[in-house]
Amino acid sequence: MADVSVNLGSSSYHIIIEQHCLDQLDQILHQLKFSGKMLIVSDEHVGSIYGEKIASSLLSAGYHAELFLVQPGEKTKSLKVADQVFTKAITMGLDRKSAIIALGGGVVGDLAGFIAATYLRGIPFIQVPTSLLAQVDSSVGGKVAVNHELGKNLIGAFYQPKVVLIDLNTLTTLPERELYTGLAEVIKYGLIADSGFLQYLNQHTEEVLNRNPSALSYLIQRSCEIKARVVEQDERESSLRMILNFGHTIAHAIEANAGYGKYNHGEAVAIGMHGAALISYYLGLCRQDVPETVRKVLANYRLPLTFSHCCIDEMMDLLIRDKKTIGGKVHWVLLTAIGETTICNHVPDELVYKVLSELKES
Ligand SMILES: NC(=O)c1ccc[n+]([C@@H]2O[C@H](COP(=O)([O-])OP(=O)(O)OC[C@H]3O[C@@H](n4cnc5c(N)ncnc54)[C@H](O)[C@@H]3O)[C@@H](O)[C@H]2O)c1
Ligand SMILES: [Zn+2]
Repeated sequence: MADVSVNLGSSSYHIIIEQHCLDQLDQILHQLKFSGKMLIVSDEHVGSIYGEKIASSLLSAGYHAELFLVQPGEKTKSLKVADQVFTKAITMGLDRKSAIIALGGGVVGDLAGFIAATYLRGIPFIQVPTSLLAQVDSSVGGKVAVNHELGKNLIGAFYQPKVVLIDLNTLTTLPERELYTGLAEVIKYGLIADSGFLQYLNQHTEEVLNRNPSALSYLIQRSCEIKARVVEQDERESSLRMILNFGHTIAHAIEANAGYGKYNHGEAVAIGMHGAALISYYLGLCRQDVPETVRKVLANYRLPLTFSHCCIDEMMDLLIRDKKTIGGKVHWVLLTAIGETTICNHVPDELVYKVLSELKES
């Protein structure tokens, strides 16, 4: 078992990574002194595999647990679906001693976290992430949100969970493409913070892709540690936390321009990290082997390096409107070496245009 602590004063919590921790969910909740009502929010894919089992084990442990299933997919992160979950919470009579359990990927985690943060001005929240992306990224750090039709994650909060339970066994049912998308975020941690970890990923590609539990356990633990250390220093993204957005500036433009769903998040981040590495090199911030290393690791993990479904002029407009634009400037997270970043707010538009043209398949 691995245990990563996230130290945020009175909002501190543990991330427990274990092969079958879902089987002990009721005991873990007892240890954390939870009692009473539990609303488990899941999507139809994950809920149909793990939901009933968890709900019945909590019921037999004396909890009043109910399962609420939402449709899988990004569209579910909406105020409309949130309203349905609020209605369920009210009719179930959830109070401030009750807990909301998010069982699923990042969509369910962000939605259920948003409910937990706002229902009755905040009730306890437990993350049970089941996609690799959720385990290494979205369940850690306390960002919760729903989308607006004018943009992603525009309505949300910083709201930390009481505990994050990562059952490695859930990864056995994760679709292949979803594994790769999570691996893009894992690679991101190596690129921004730990060249030794990136080396590990390059040396253990086959074990990781074959879902070897000890390789997965290590990479989830290391990813969570890196994210936790960053979040501890900058919970509300005023400075350092920005480095977690490496690759995301271009990624957001790809996701928005290609239409949400064409490229999933990790695929867009992979292309975006390639683009950010090229910008870093063209600005003279790093050596040529940095973008080469980025290309190599992404290719090893069968992630895309280029896009074909986007219009560069439209992407330029989106980039300039990116929500990380502060005072009219885009804050680019760039690499000075593998494992080292810098923030740059004066990347010329012409260079961005040139790099996007290189990223576009002809
Ligand atoms: N809050 C944050 O800090 C943060 C960080 C990164 C991403 N996100 C958000 O996370 C979301 C993407 O998360 P995601 O990639 O997990 O997407 P997702 O929640 O849509 O899950 C992907 C798919 O995998 C399925 N799935 C998940 N776990 C499974 C399992 N164990 N077995 C079988 N199927 C399983 C889901 O049903 C879904 O169809 C986006 O909305 C993004 O904005 C949030
Ligand atoms: Zn991301």
